[in-house]
Amino acid sequence: MIDKLIYMETFGCQMNVNDSERIVTMLSDLGYAPTNDPSVADMIMLNTCSVRGGAEEKVYKRLQNLRIYKRDGKSQIIAVGGCVAQQEGEELLNKFPYLDLVFGTHNLHLLPDMVRGAEQGQRRSETSFIDNDQRLDLFPSIRAKSSLSRFVTVMQGCDNFCSYCIVPYVRGREISRRSADILAEIRQLADEGVREVVLLGQNVNSYGLKAESEPSFAELIRQVAQVSEIERIRFTTSHPKDMSDDLIACFGDVPKLCGQIHLPAQSGSDEVLKRMKRGYSRESYLDKVRKLKAARPGIVITGDIIVGFPGESDDDFEQTLSLVEEVRYIDLFTFVYSPRPGTKAAELSEELTRNQKLARLDRLMTLQKRINLEICREYVGGLQTVLVEGKGKLTGQVSGKADNGRIVNFSGDTSLIGSFVQVRIAKAYPNSLLGELEK
Ligand code: SAH
Ligand code: SF4
Ligand code: F3S
Repeated sequence: MIDKLIYMETFGCQMNVNDSERIVTMLSDLGYAPTNDPSVADMIMLNTCSVRGGAEEKVYKRLQNLRIYKRDGKSQIIAVGGCVAQQEGEELLNKFPYLDLVFGTHNLHLLPDMVRGAEQGQRRSETSFIDNDQRLDLFPSIRAKSSLSRFVTVMQGCDNFCSYCIVPYVRGREISRRSADILAEIRQLADEGVREVVLLGQNVNSYGLKAESEPSFAELIRQVAQVSEIERIRFTTSHPKDMSDDLIACFGDVPKLCGQIHLPAQSGSDEVLKRMKRGYSRESYLDKVRKLKAARPGIVITGDIIVGFPGESDDDFEQTLSLVEEVRYIDLFTFVYSPRPGTKAAELSEELTRNQKLARLDRLMTLQKRINLEICREYVGGLQTVLVEGKGKLTGQVSGKADNGRIVNFSGDTSLIGSFVQVRIAKAYPNSLLGELEK
C-alpha cells in the first residue's frame, strides 16, 4: 500500500539520475510515492555528486537547509546517497545529527532494510564496496515509466584514474553488466513501449574488454539494434582512448545508432593530456573525430574541457582553443579545474590565480558560443526526423528529439506523441530548434 511520500533531489551525472529512478521504484514496494514538495515528505533523500568542490559544497548547503523539514517527534527520515555519501561515509552522521541514513554507490540494494530500520529510529551508514563477482547480480532493472526513451546501464565504475578525477574512488572498479541481462531489459522496455535506449556507463567504450565471454561495445550495439521495436540507440559517456574503429564503423552501418556522440577531450595540449593521464594525444583524438565525421556525415559532437589544470601554460590553453575550433563541438561543457582529495593531480602545485582561470574559461565559452551558433544556423531550412516525446515549451506545441539529439519544438497535436515526424526547421536557438510539421 502506498501511504508515504519520498522527496528525492538528484545532483551530478546520469548515473545518479538513473540510480535515483531505481531507488524511487524500489521504495515504492515499501509504500513510498514520489512528491515534489519536501515539506510534506515522510522521507527526504539527496543523491549527491562530488566531482568538483563546488558540487560538493552545494550538497552541504542543501543538507544544512534540510534541518527545517525535520518535524519534531515525527519519524521523518533524511537520507544521503551517491558520491559525497561514498566519500564521507559515517562522518556525515556525526556532522549532521538530524541525518538518519548514509548509503554509498554500491549499497542501493540495502536501502529497503535501511529504510525499515530508520522508520524505527535507527541511524545507519553503509558505504562498503562490493566485489565484482557479487556485483553482477546487483544491476537491478527498472520498470519502465510510460516514456519513450530510457537509460539502460551497461557498465559501472571506472578504472581509468585520470589524475584529476574522483569518480574511480567514489564509484569503485569498473564492471560490465552481462549482455544477456542488458538485452533482456531492453526487450522488456521495448514491450512496454520504449522506442529509444541510451546505453549508460562512465566509460561505455571499455564495455566487455575485461570479460572474455561478453561482446565488445560495438558488438553490443549491433545486438541491441536487432531488437525490432527499438528504433534509436544512443550512448554516454565515451572515453576517446577506448573508441575502437569497429565502434566508429557502427555510426556508418547501424542506422538505429543516432548521429551524436559525447567525446570529452579535456584539453588540446599533449603535455596537459599526459599529466591528466588521459592515455591519448591531441592528434589521436582529432584522428578519431575525423573518422567519426567520415563514418556519419553531420554527426553532432559534444565534449568536456577542463581549464586551469596545474601547469597549464598560455600555449597549452591556446592549443585547447584550436582543438575546439577544429572539432566544432555543438555543445561544450567547460569546467575550471578543482582539486579533489586523494587524486594524483591534487598533489601538483597550482600557479594560476582564480581570475586567470576564469579569464580562460571566459575565452573558451565565447569561442564555443560562436561555434554553437554557426552549427545551429545551418539547420534552418532543413528537415529533421523527430521522435515526438511530449508537450513543447508553449501551449499548442509538442517536442521531441532529432536523430542528432537536438530538441525540436513545433506546433502540433499531442496525438503525435510516440510517432516519428518530419519537421522543417525555421529557427535555431543555442539549445533547441523551432520548426513546422512537414505535411
Ligand atoms: N566518465 C566521464 C566523465 C565523468 S566526470 C568521462 O570520462 O568522460 C564529468 C566531467 O567533469 C569530466 O569529463 C571532466 O571534464 C569534469 N571533471 C572531472 N573532474 C574534475 C575536476 N577535478 N575539476 C574540474 N572538472 C572535472
Ligand atoms: Fe573520471 Fe577519467 Fe574515469 Fe571519466 S574516465 S570517470 S574522467 S577517471
Ligand atoms: Fe558526480 Fe558521482 Fe557522477 S561524482 S559526476 S555523481 S559519478
